[in-house]
Amino acid sequence: MEKATAIAPSNIAFIKYWGRENPELNIPKNGSLSVNLDQLHTTTTVEFSPDYQRDQIIINGHEDETEAKRAIKHLDKIRLLAGITEQAKVVSENNFPTGSGLASSASGFAALSVAGAKAAGLNLSERELSTLARLGSGSASRSIPDGFVEWVKGSSHENSYAYSLYPPDYWDIKALAVIVSLDKKKMGSVEGHSLVDTSIYYGVRIVHMDGKIAHLKEAMAEKDFKTFGEIVEAEAVDLHVIAMTSNPPLFYWKGASIEAMEACRELRDGGTLAYFTFDAGPQPVVFCQGKDAQTVAERLKSITAVKDLIVNEPGIGARVVDTHLF
Ligand code: PMV
Repeated sequence: MEKATAIAPSNIAFIKYWGRENPELNIPKNGSLSVNLDQLHTTTTVEFSPDYQRDQIIINGHEDETEAKRAIKHLDKIRLLAGITEQAKVVSENNFPTGSGLASSASGFAALSVAGAKAAGLNLSERELSTLARLGSGSASRSIPDGFVEWVKGSSHENSYAYSLYPPDYWDIKALAVIVSLDKKKMGSVEGHSLVDTSIYYGVRIVHMDGKIAHLKEAMAEKDFKTFGEIVEAEAVDLHVIAMTSNPPLFYWKGASIEAMEACRELRDGGTLAYFTFDAGPQPVVFCQGKDAQTVAERLKSITAVKDLIVNEPGIGARVVDTHLF
């Protein structure tokens, strides 16, 4: 069997996945919409071989037990699909800090799915790769297709998948990933998903999701950036209201996260359209139109606690590459 390598982008959701209908299969309570981030990615090489005595998982140069467990569970699914029993060596590199609120699980499981399937001799369609990636981490399903992506909620393993709504060059928008903290997260998204029903507001959120998705898709079809931004921002606040009112409560924002929200409002008051979103972490991702990227970046960099700022364009999805990591 041949060694295989894949690169997969991280993605940022406009409409978020928060809460699971089926926790085993990562079937979400609602559909979601996202864009791939061209500057943040994971590269993964997988090799199955009778020479390996055990699965060895090396992520960013380290073997970590918790991370390895999740990866091995995913390899087991790939082995089952391919009808093989060989152990594997997996080497994976993120080009951004793991566990910092930038979605390393999305790019990580997308890359592992594409490289693993290829290394196991499977020939899967994009849709099948998306459902496979979803089993590792829900949001990973959205890192498989290109550009602007919709994850259809679905009701079974086969029909809960992501597909490309538009290619990367459809719309000249930028996603500025602002690094305000490099602390490892205390509470990951796995816990967050399982706590949603403890928030008294979750029922209200869910009632509005289909309408919100339809409204956002309309704004995207019309390239109406202002409406797009207003929906995206309100949606991020909505997710954090659920998180903050869960039991135990999850507070992800830091002081600098709030400062970035204020900076967006201030930029808009001055006529520059900038809108924030957040995943389950403190790092804001700010959307703006291509022409405004420099103005927005400069304003965000003026926040004292900002450590780094990565300007992303909409990116292509996961793909196989020829250069291996070992
Ligand atoms: O894929 P998970 O289980 O890491 O969940 C992702 C959750 C959010 O990042 C907060 C939202 C999203 O849709 O990406």
